[in-house]
Amino acid sequence: MSNSELFSEERSAEVVAGSFADAPDPRLRTVLSSLVRHLHDFVKDVELTEAEWATAIDFLTATGQKCDSVRQEFVLLSDVLGVSMLVETINHRAGAATESTVLGPFHMVDSPPRALGDQIALDGKGQPCLVTGRVVGPGGEAIGGASIDVWQANEDGFYDVQQPETIPANNLRGLFTAADDGTFWFRSVVPCHYPIPMDGPVGELLRATGRHPNRPAHIHFIVQATGYAPVTTHLFVDDSPYLDSDAVFGVKPTLIRDFPITDDPVRAAEVGLPNPFRTVDFEISLKQA
Ligand code: BEZ
Ligand code: FE
Repeated sequence: MSNSELFSEERSAEVVAGSFADAPDPRLRTVLSSLVRHLHDFVKDVELTEAEWATAIDFLTATGQKCDSVRQEFVLLSDVLGVSMLVETINHRAGAATESTVLGPFHMVDSPPRALGDQIALDGKGQPCLVTGRVVGPGGEAIGGASIDVWQANEDGFYDVQQPETIPANNLRGLFTAADDGTFWFRSVVPCHYPIPMDGPVGELLRATGRHPNRPAHIHFIVQATGYAPVTTHLFVDDSPYLDSDAVFGVKPTLIRDFPITDDPVRAAEVGLPNPFRTVDFEISLKQA
């Protein structure tokens, strides 16, 4: 570190950024120097008071203390500040493929393997729904054998992991494998909109700023296949509230689908659902890796 220039209000950012000049990793140097410049600009812009900085430190401390093996309050903070969506968006610029969106905190790495057509609503609640789709490559070619990991909240807006005493494990989750023609289908229920966890510092922030905590109804998908770039995305329900004010800014118009009602007892019996039921179709297009 070079000590050639002492700290001053006017040149604070340059002085501190300069302290990283000898960092051996060039990317680390770039990221830290830019971070310091923006952080110092921010402090100067709002003329941050000592009391405000102490509040910020307390807030970040509480955010860290709220984290454990199943709760990640820092990710939630990044979500409500739009940083998760920004990082995700600049790293997966759209092109022709299905757009991506936030992962969220309720994905399980060990999603339960399921057969095509399985019912994933184990708690027997909610409006029955037939989910169909197809996984294709950039030229529209079928990607047989693609893996399709899905998870969603129940009719009350909760994931199984949020209420392990009352919701059966693996409710509304499944890991499917697309058929040779790229198609997949499963039985589920129409998801519901729900609030993100509000019992921590992020909840305090939303309350203090008068923001609502809700996410529009959606089904999560992670779709992957050898030779293609995986996509982490959602399928949004087109008549859900909060599509225009998602608490984590995750909505992209290309991901919204109609869930029409089918009233046809013969079709209902064929697919193993009570009549009437809702349906949705989601074609997922992957980029080449
Ligand atoms: C979710 O969709 O599961 C989610 C995403 C971000 C924050 C909270 C929940
Ligand atoms: Fe979700």
